[in-house]
Amino acid sequence: MLDINSFNSDVIIDSPGRINLIGEHIDYNGGLVLPAAIDKKITFRFRKNNSETCEILSSNFKSSFKLDLKDISRSETEWQNYILGVVYHINVLKPGSVKGFDCIIESNLPLGSGISSSAALECGMAKGLNELFDIGLTDLQMIKLSRDAEHTFVGTKCGIMDQFAVVKGKENNLILLDCDTLEYKLIPADFSPYTVVLLNTNVSHSLASSEYNVRRDECNTALAAIQKKYPRYSSLAEIEPSVIEEFKQILPEKVFNRALYASQEHRRTLEAVQCLEANDLTGFGDCLYRSHNGLQHMYEVSCKELDFLVDFSKKFDDVLGARMMGGGFGGCTINLILEEKVEEFIENAKAAYQEKFDLDLSPIIIKISNGVSKIESDAR
Ligand code: GLA
Repeated sequence: MLDINSFNSDVIIDSPGRINLIGEHIDYNGGLVLPAAIDKKITFRFRKNNSETCEILSSNFKSSFKLDLKDISRSETEWQNYILGVVYHINVLKPGSVKGFDCIIESNLPLGSGISSSAALECGMAKGLNELFDIGLTDLQMIKLSRDAEHTFVGTKCGIMDQFAVVKGKENNLILLDCDTLEYKLIPADFSPYTVVLLNTNVSHSLASSEYNVRRDECNTALAAIQKKYPRYSSLAEIEPSVIEEFKQILPEKVFNRALYASQEHRRTLEAVQCLEANDLTGFGDCLYRSHNGLQHMYEVSCKELDFLVDFSKKFDDVLGARMMGGGFGGCTINLILEEKVEEFIENAKAAYQEKFDLDLSPIIIKISNGVSKIESDAR
């Protein structure tokens, strides 16, 4: 196994997690999302090893594996597939560009908590290999091949939001991303005197990735049915809620609800951005609450722990909004709260959560930070 202490790195990469203010389950529906990269991250140390075999060590999992560049296939161990997938897809795009390397991975990103440790792992790997072997991949190529790795090697048919935020994140800015065109605009993340706090439920229900793919299929079913009558539409996000309503009797109830949610959430993201730009934080917070309501009742990707925390936050006037964040079925809530009341709120929420579920609640205090970057090299 690689020795962490004597490892001389040629390239060191920091790859952040992400938050998403609003626009949940909208990326693969062709609409607007509002993510940002954060200061919790995975650090990768790379070195060339001049062989056909690569060794990758995860210090968090305290395990390592070897990868044969001539034969890259899926592993039974999930975390390895993120790495294997990225190497595989770089090779598809730039055959022969990845040569022998070793890599040590250390993370302070909690797993399965909806802050995208997956995209951080993929994009950090892609960026590191790009730097180490001077491959010449563009940001967009790294974003897309990281997403493809998740589809083909991990099996989650994710959208593009996470990888985009991890690569394109800018300190103190949110990214308003149009997932249809991939055009984006940076929006200053100024919530003062309020701030954003994550509360990690510390639950991660096993449904998450299978139900995720089911939601995508349901959305595709809805879109296909609507396109029969209105071929001009190419995504659910662009369809007006009133048009979706026409299909209430035609679509199965759940499929109809998914479609209506997607259409509404896309519009809510735009509304939230307008509130933010007008410094209407109360309006912004209200959008967060409405988003959660849709995710809970129409998209059905929440869970009792997340719903409890969102309901609990409504008792506090100093919390303007809260909702579940990320894929769902566990993970974090994101809360917009008066900065000077953060500690008091966390204490109350922790106690209530403990009493209700006999579980710890972990607050995650974040800063909005830059995307994946090369930090330094300690090669001698
Ligand atoms: C996961 C996926 C993203 C996105 C979110 C939900 O994080 O990786 O593509 O769909 O869920 O918004």
